[in-house]
Amino acid sequence: MKFFIDTANLAQIKEAQELGVLDGVTTNPSLMAKEGITGHDNILKHYVDICNIVEGDVSAEVIATDFEGMVREGEALAELHEQIVVKLPMIKDGIKACKYFSNKGIRTNVTLVFSPGQALLAAKAGATYVSPFIGRLDDISTDGLNLIAEIRHIYDNYAFETQILAASVRHTMHVIDCAKLGADVMTGPLSSIEGLLKHPLTDSGLAKFLEDYQKGN
Ligand code: E4P
Repeated sequence: MKFFIDTANLAQIKEAQELGVLDGVTTNPSLMAKEGITGHDNILKHYVDICNIVEGDVSAEVIATDFEGMVREGEALAELHEQIVVKLPMIKDGIKACKYFSNKGIRTNVTLVFSPGQALLAAKAGATYVSPFIGRLDDISTDGLNLIAEIRHIYDNYAFETQILAASVRHTMHVIDCAKLGADVMTGPLSSIEGLLKHPLTDSGLAKFLEDYQKGN
C-alpha cells in the first residue's frame, strides 16, 4: 500500500518524507489556498518545490472544467516535473481529458469520486489513479469504506490497472480499514500515518526494557 500525504504544507511534507515511508503527495485547490499559495507562477513553483522534497507522485489539480482548458493546463503541469500526476475532476470533460492524457502516456488522478459507476468510468478512460473521497461520504452518513470495497471488487473483476487512491482519509482507522480492503494508496494528513505508530504496550514495554538495562549498566 502506498502512503501519500494530503497537504501542500512543505514542512509537513518534509516531516513525512523524513519518516521514510512516504510514496507521494496529493494537493487540491483548497489545500493550496490554505497555505496561501496564489497566482499562476507561485502555484507552479510550489508544485516543483513539493516534487523536490518527495520521491514519488505529486498530484496537481487543473482548474479548468472544459476539455480544451484541462488539456492545456494538464500538459503544462505534466511538463513541470516528471513526478507530476494531472488531477482531473470526475465530470464529462474530465473523463474525456483523462482518455486524452492516457493516450499520451501522461499520468492522471480522477478526483471527486463518490460512486462505483464514476470509478468504473475513470478506469475505462485509463486513469492512473481514482480518488474516492471516503471522509466526505462518512460526513453525510454514507459508508465511505463500502465504496472502496465496491471499487476493489469491480476493478478486480476486469483486472483494471487503475490504482484505488483512498482520499479524504481523516484518521488512522481509515488507513487500516483501507489496507484491509485492498486500496492501493491512501492519502491523508500526517497524523493519520503517525497514528499507526501508537500502542501503549510499545511505550510501557520500551520503558521497562530501558529500566532493566539501567539496573545492570
Ligand atoms: C485528495 O486528493 C483530496 O483532495 C482530499 O483527500 C480531500 O480531502 P478532504 O475531504 O479532507 O478535503
